[in-house]
Amino acid sequence: MVIASPDIPLTLTLTPEHEDLIKTVRAFARREIAPIAAEYDESGEFPLATVRKMGEMGLMGIEVPEAYGGAGMDTLAYVLTMIEVARADASHSTILSVNNSLYAYGIMQFGTEAQKQKYVAPVAAGAKIGAYSLTEPMSGSDAATMASRAVLNEAGTHYIINGRKSWVTSGPVADYVVLFTMTHPEKGNKGITAFLVEADQPGFIRGKKEPKLGIRASATSELVFENYACPVENILGRVGDGFKIAMTVLDAGRIGIAAQALGIAEAAYEAALTYARERQAFGGPIGQFQMIQQKIADMKTRIEAARALIYNAVLAKQRAKLEGGRFTLEASIAKLFASEAAAFVTDEAVQIHGGMGYSKEFPVERYYRDARITRIYEGTSEVQRMVIARSELGLR
Ligand code: CAA
Repeated sequence: MVIASPDIPLTLTLTPEHEDLIKTVRAFARREIAPIAAEYDESGEFPLATVRKMGEMGLMGIEVPEAYGGAGMDTLAYVLTMIEVARADASHSTILSVNNSLYAYGIMQFGTEAQKQKYVAPVAAGAKIGAYSLTEPMSGSDAATMASRAVLNEAGTHYIINGRKSWVTSGPVADYVVLFTMTHPEKGNKGITAFLVEADQPGFIRGKKEPKLGIRASATSELVFENYACPVENILGRVGDGFKIAMTVLDAGRIGIAAQALGIAEAAYEAALTYARERQAFGGPIGQFQMIQQKIADMKTRIEAARALIYNAVLAKQRAKLEGGRFTLEASIAKLFASEAAAFVTDEAVQIHGGMGYSKEFPVERYYRDARITRIYEGTSEVQRMVIARSELGLR
């Protein structure tokens, strides 16, 4: 497969390594993840054993160079992995995406050599779990208005961090966290700094675990910091660069969430196709009726359009790596479209299943619930529209 973008003079090639990766991850996800997905969704327990196995397979640091414990593959490999894992279980793909994009990508982009060795290598190898903490109870979409504070101590050796962060994916289990907090409140978004914090240090408190509608096996919690002393060498990037680091990382994260949305949509679509072939009504399979056929056609069209936009975003990221610059627009377009496509496809999949789609005996009700978050986290659909429109209008 070769894809060329009209705007980007690059091509995306599905190499034999990518094909092998798809086969390996698909087989693993079908064998080890899909059979436990409903049970972990019900209990809300964190699937540590399969997460560790994903780490052993190199899936926790797909784009991280082998020298830092990763698989040394490219963004296409990351996207293909996300799709396959999300097809089996969205929760596993959420855990995967945070380790790969929100955590490892940011440290690889902005970290020092020592930070990469200490904080990326064990996470990429699956021995430790990473998290990314930007959001606060009163600061979500308006990410720059945070209330948490980090103050340099008199000796100039440590920042003392206080405050409450919320909606931290993998918060209840993370060993290390990329934390964004305000060091210079008078400077607004230029007063935010990123820190690498360790969960086993005094002053790091895991707060309330969120009871969620979907992706229930991916643990989400508040994190509370009470006089947490973070050494200055754990600043990620430079003091005051935190907001730009957070946004740069989210650009990469949003491609992953788009791929997750596509994976969930594909799973729902395949279930709906099977049901439309097998379910008999009015003297034949329901797939013979035009109203079901219209749904199938619209579901498939949105799935393939989402895939094309995701590949376009991968190309844009590839170009940015070679030439510099950003891929913000393409990432937001892919995330917006794919997450809304997933909402449409999972909703129609429930509808095709009728009453059975509303039952926990079929997986489509889980796909429907799991898809919902992709329009909210890593920037709501409204935020993606802001980003796209501001870019097109040349506004800030
Ligand atoms: N890359 C690099 N720099 C960027 C950037 C990007 N993608 N986006 C903005 N910036 C820079 C701008 O260039 C600007 O820099 P200068 O002042 O030097 O020119 C600066 O950042 C401020 O930009 P804006 O004025 O555009 O900022 P804003 O306050 O208006 O916010 C926003 C823009 C797009 C709404 C942004 O706040 C945003 O994306 N909000 C959503 C946050 C979000 O996605 N949160 C989810 C957190 S993660 C999560 O969901 C939990 C989890 O664990 C999964």
